[in-house]
Amino acid sequence: MSVAASRCAARLIQRSLRSPSRPRRRLDPPRPFSSSSSLLHGHLDPPKPGEERKVTFVDKEGDEHTFVVADGDNLLDIANDLEMEGACGGSCACSTCHVIVSDPDMFDKMEEPDDDENDMLDLAFGLTETSRLGCQVKMSKELDGLVVKLPTMTRNLQASDFAKR
Ligand code: FES
Repeated sequence: MSVAASRCAARLIQRSLRSPSRPRRRLDPPRPFSSSSSLLHGHLDPPKPGEERKVTFVDKEGDEHTFVVADGDNLLDIANDLEMEGACGGSCACSTCHVIVSDPDMFDKMEEPDDDENDMLDLAFGLTETSRLGCQVKMSKELDGLVVKLPTMTRNLQASDFAKR
């Protein structure tokens, strides 16, 4: 069993053991959805010479879009001009920033998703063993050359949709 498959199985087991009333992490205040240019997102601090990281997005039509970014930039901010919705503004409360990491070895280099991300991933359309939420993945030296695919569809379910009213 691959590491990615093990993580997927562990995620399913964790979910089955979890209490449904577990409180969710909230960002206070939540980051608003932004429609500003990608030049102002994730690129406010240009990468220092020698510290440029490359990331490529493969869109729904199969076209590749490569960006040179700095450590700490997250995939949602980087993909601001692509078809990545980011409905909750990066507060890990939806699954519209779902991306699929192309290389399982690169996926294994990433930090483990936390419980909140796993909960939202469970709602993602077309979940795979190498799925992540773009807003939770920050670029680093280890992820230089990362390639992610945008899923053909996203499901816009936000955690707030399930809140008791
Ligand atoms: Fe909502 Fe990433 S933008 S979880």
